[in-house]
Amino acid sequence: MCGIIGAVTKSAIEPVLEGLGRLEYRGYDSSGISILSNNEIQTIKAEGKLSKLKQRLSVQPIDGDCCIGHTRWATHGRANVTNAHPHQCGQVSVVHNGIIENYLNLKQQLIQWGHHFNSSTDSEVIPHLINHYLAQKMRQEEAIEKAISQLKGSYALGILINGASNNLYAIKQDSPLVISQGNSGAYMASDAMALGADSGKVYYPKDNELIKLNANEIKSCSRSINKKIHFINNKQCTKIVSKGDHSSFMEKEIFEQVDLLKRLSVNNHTSEYSIINFKDLNKITIIACGTSYYAASVAKSWFEKYANISVEIDIASEYRYRSPIVMDNELAIFVSQSGETADTLAALRYAKSKKAQTLALVNVVNSSIARESNFTFEIYAGPEIGVASTKAFTCQLAIFYKMALEAAKQRSFLKETELADLSNNFVQLPYIMEKILQRCSAMKKMAKKLSNYKNILFLGRGMLTPIAQEGALKLKEISYIHAEAYAAGELKHGPIALLDEQMPVLVIAPKNTLTDKLLSNIKEVQARNAPLFIIGDKSIKEHINLQDDEFFELPLIPESILPVISVIPMQLLALYSAQTLGKNVDQPRNLAKSVTVE
Ligand code: F6R
Repeated sequence: MCGIIGAVTKSAIEPVLEGLGRLEYRGYDSSGISILSNNEIQTIKAEGKLSKLKQRLSVQPIDGDCCIGHTRWATHGRANVTNAHPHQCGQVSVVHNGIIENYLNLKQQLIQWGHHFNSSTDSEVIPHLINHYLAQKMRQEEAIEKAISQLKGSYALGILINGASNNLYAIKQDSPLVISQGNSGAYMASDAMALGADSGKVYYPKDNELIKLNANEIKSCSRSINKKIHFINNKQCTKIVSKGDHSSFMEKEIFEQVDLLKRLSVNNHTSEYSIINFKDLNKITIIACGTSYYAASVAKSWFEKYANISVEIDIASEYRYRSPIVMDNELAIFVSQSGETADTLAALRYAKSKKAQTLALVNVVNSSIARESNFTFEIYAGPEIGVASTKAFTCQLAIFYKMALEAAKQRSFLKETELADLSNNFVQLPYIMEKILQRCSAMKKMAKKLSNYKNILFLGRGMLTPIAQEGALKLKEISYIHAEAYAAGELKHGPIALLDEQMPVLVIAPKNTLTDKLLSNIKEVQARNAPLFIIGDKSIKEHINLQDDEFFELPLIPESILPVISVIPMQLLALYSAQTLGKNVDQPRNLAKSVTVE
C-alpha cells in the first residue's frame, strides 16, 4: 500500500507533510521525506506515525523547493527507520508504493556490481539501479527508464535527482498516481485527496509514462518524446476533514450515517440507475473485498428477492485467479470504497477482457476502478478517514437498494404497491437508525462486558449473515478480539464444538420470518453454557434470561432494510469494545485504508 507525495514549490516540505497527513490512511508503519536543499538531498525518516516524523523535523528543520514524502505499510522488511522510505543511493532518492517482485534477483546483480544495501525492502533496488545507470553517463530520463524496464511488479514512484536543475520524476505501473498543476507549484501523489488547496488541475498518467516536474513545467517525457499534458479539473475534496467533537473519526463516521442516509433517501427516485438495462441481464456478478464484499452479499439477496436476477458474488482475490465464466449480457459490479483496491482492480480488468459490462460502485470518483469501468455510481459517503469502514458500508447498501428497486421496476417483478412499500421503507431508514444511535450508551455496557473475552462467535441468518460477518470483522479489526461469524444454521455443523463458558456468542435476532428458527439456535447455545449476547427483538427476552448488558433491543424494522439498521449496533459494539481496551480505533495495527498491493 503506502502513500507517496512530491512537490516542487517554495517551502515544498509544507504541502508534502500536509499531504502525508491525508495519506496516512494508506499506512502508518513509518514515514519519511527527502528534500533538495543547497544542492544536496537531505532525508529524514521516523518509525511509527507521521507525528514522530514531525517531531524529528521540529528539532532538525530543513527546507527546499523539491521534496518527496512517504507513509509506509510494511510489506518487505519490518517497520523500522532503516526500512522507511525514501531510499537513497548517491544522488537519487525514491519513494515507492507497490511491490517489486523480482527485487531479489536485481539486488544480487547490484551487489555484484558493488552496491551496498541498508534495508530489507524490495524498494531499495530502484534508487540503486537508477544511480547505476547515471554513473554510466546516461541522462536522467534515460537512466530512470532503463531502471524501470527491469522492474517486475507494481509501482508508483517519486524520484528526486540532485543534478544541474531540481527535477522530480514520477512514474507508475498498476499503482495509483496523480499529477497536479497548481498556481504556485507542481505536485504528485498517490491520490487526489492528498493534494492541497493549490491543486485545481490533475492528470492521471498511463502505465510507464514518465512525468518530469520542475519549477517551470510538467511534461510527459517517455522515451525522449515530450508530450503536452492535458489536465482535468480536480473533483476530489481537498478540504481537511476534522473529527469535530467526536473522540475519533470512526465515531464521527458512525454518527454521520443518519444524515448521509437522509440525503440519499430524499431523492428516492431510482431513475439515475436507469442507465443500466436490468431487463435484459442474464446475470449480475458482484466482486469486492472485506466490508465491501459483505455489502455485496446483502445486495445479492435484494436483487434476487426483489428483481429475480441471478447474482453471484465473489471475493476479488479469488475471482481474479479462478478463470470465472463471464456470460453474455452479464453485468459485473465492482464495489470499493477507495476505488484503488489492487485485487478488485485486477478482477475488473479480467471481467473487461471477457467483455462483461462493468460498473464501479465507489466512494472516490476519480479512482482507478471508477476510471476503468463502463459505468460509475458514487456512494456519496464523503471522505472516510477511520480505517475500519462504517459509513461507506451503509452508503454502499443504500445505493444497492436503489439499484435493486430500479431492477425490480424494469423487470416488472413486483406489484406497484410492493415497490412503493419498499421505497417507503428506505425513507424511514435514517429515522430508525437515529433512534438506535440515541441508545448508544446501552451498547457501551455490552461492550464493557464483552471486552473481557478473547474470542467470540457472531451468528445471523438470511440477509443478516453478512451483517454478523461485518460485525465480527469490525470487532477484530479495531479491538483485536478474535471474532468469527457463521450463518446460525451452520453452528451445529462444527463450530458448536467450540462452545463453553469462555466462548460467548452474539446473535442478531430481529423480528423477521426467521426469528423462530434463530430462537432454536439460541437455545442450542444456551444449552452449552456459552455466554450469550443478543441484538434483537424484545420477544427473545421472553424465552431467554438475559441481563441488561447482554441484550440490545431492536425495534420492529421493515424486513427489507434490516441489514442497514442492524449493522449500527455492531459498529458501536466494536468501537466501544476497542475503546474499553484502550486501542487506537482510527488507526488499528497492521491495517491500511487502501489496499493497493495483492
Ligand atoms: C474493513 C475494511 C476493509 C475494506 C477492504 C476493501 O473495515 O475497511 O475490509 O472494506 O479493504 O476496501 P475497498 O472498499 O476500498 O475496496
